[in-house]
Amino acid sequence: MFEQIERVPGDAILGLIEAFKNDTNPNKVDLGVGVYRDAHGDTPVMRAVKQAEEQLLKSETTKTYIGSHGAPQYGEAVLSMVMGEGSAVLEAKRASATQSPGGTGALRLAADFIAAQLPGKGIWVSDPTWPNHHGIFTAAGIALHKYPYVDADNRLDFDGMLNALKQIPQGDVVVLHACCHNPTGFDLSREQWQQVLEVLRERQLLPLVDFAYQGFGQGLDEDAYAVRLLAENLDEVIITSSCSKNFGIYCERTGCLIMVARNEEQMENVRSQVAIVARENYSNPPAHGSAIVSTILHTPELEKVWRDELTEMRDRINTLRRDFVDALKPYGLDARFAHIAEQQGMFSYTGLSPEQVDRLRDEFGIYMVRSGRANVAGFSSENLPYLAKAVAAVC
Ligand code: LMR
Repeated sequence: MFEQIERVPGDAILGLIEAFKNDTNPNKVDLGVGVYRDAHGDTPVMRAVKQAEEQLLKSETTKTYIGSHGAPQYGEAVLSMVMGEGSAVLEAKRASATQSPGGTGALRLAADFIAAQLPGKGIWVSDPTWPNHHGIFTAAGIALHKYPYVDADNRLDFDGMLNALKQIPQGDVVVLHACCHNPTGFDLSREQWQQVLEVLRERQLLPLVDFAYQGFGQGLDEDAYAVRLLAENLDEVIITSSCSKNFGIYCERTGCLIMVARNEEQMENVRSQVAIVARENYSNPPAHGSAIVSTILHTPELEKVWRDELTEMRDRINTLRRDFVDALKPYGLDARFAHIAEQQGMFSYTGLSPEQVDRLRDEFGIYMVRSGRANVAGFSSENLPYLAKAVAAVC
């Protein structure tokens, strides 16, 4: 039977990792997959993570299953990181946390929950969005639709987005990026989020907020603005949180599905259904990443070390954004790329065409997603002059 099976191209983002590794160009630069890089191009283990692991190695007594919802201390810690200390939603016991294998695992749990419990509901994603959103929701059998997010000049099209949201059938699900929009780097202002909230409420739409980059925009609390606004003002919200980026524990697959319901009873009903979805997918989540996160968030000294390092990472990215635009000045391209300094998070929609991206790869060994998305963390003071020269050569 396997003779009928066709070979398909691999994932475009993950494929860049291999292509970059195989490139022998000594000047090559990796602006592909969304992982943080330091000034040397490395993705180091964060200091607090190393310390937490040392503690865990000594104190761990068992490797038994941790249950379909994962470790309770992890769930509590993530709920308070996402919703904020003293959150009214948490006080009212309206939110449930289910540990998941990464943010992607949380998205798949959400997708399977929607397909099983809200049959017939469509799901709406921004155009563009993280390409895997398409794969995850379609694989779960949900009808996928798009709302506009950027205009023809590759700038945020908020009016287009809001008008499209107003046309979505009542009860459908809308995927929103809480901060550090992937792939564009264009985030909504607080005033714009307020307008989105009004439309969601009027049209009775169910927001699914993808929160993969908490701490990479303006700060842990600042980045949670939209999540908290929606959770406090709407009866029902789905949130997919990830610790991959802000704790730098990509390979430990540590995420969380947060389901916010109207009241505690409905939350418990929803939670029981999420446990079934988890059980049918992978039974129990892996334990190590959640143990790291919960050790850090329950140990004030470690939490401080972690917060400080996260701030350094965020500041580094923001400085590099400005430095890149400055490096383009001698080529007269700074105005054309000025938006890069205004975007937020790891990614930048550069506005480079797929053909220009191909030329950067083939002629300069510079790797980025063909949509023109660059991982800004791959910039460094050393490679910026080379990057600017290369961009100028293809523009
Ligand atoms: C990215 O967009 O590069 C990251 O979210 C990694 C991934 O899995 O695609």
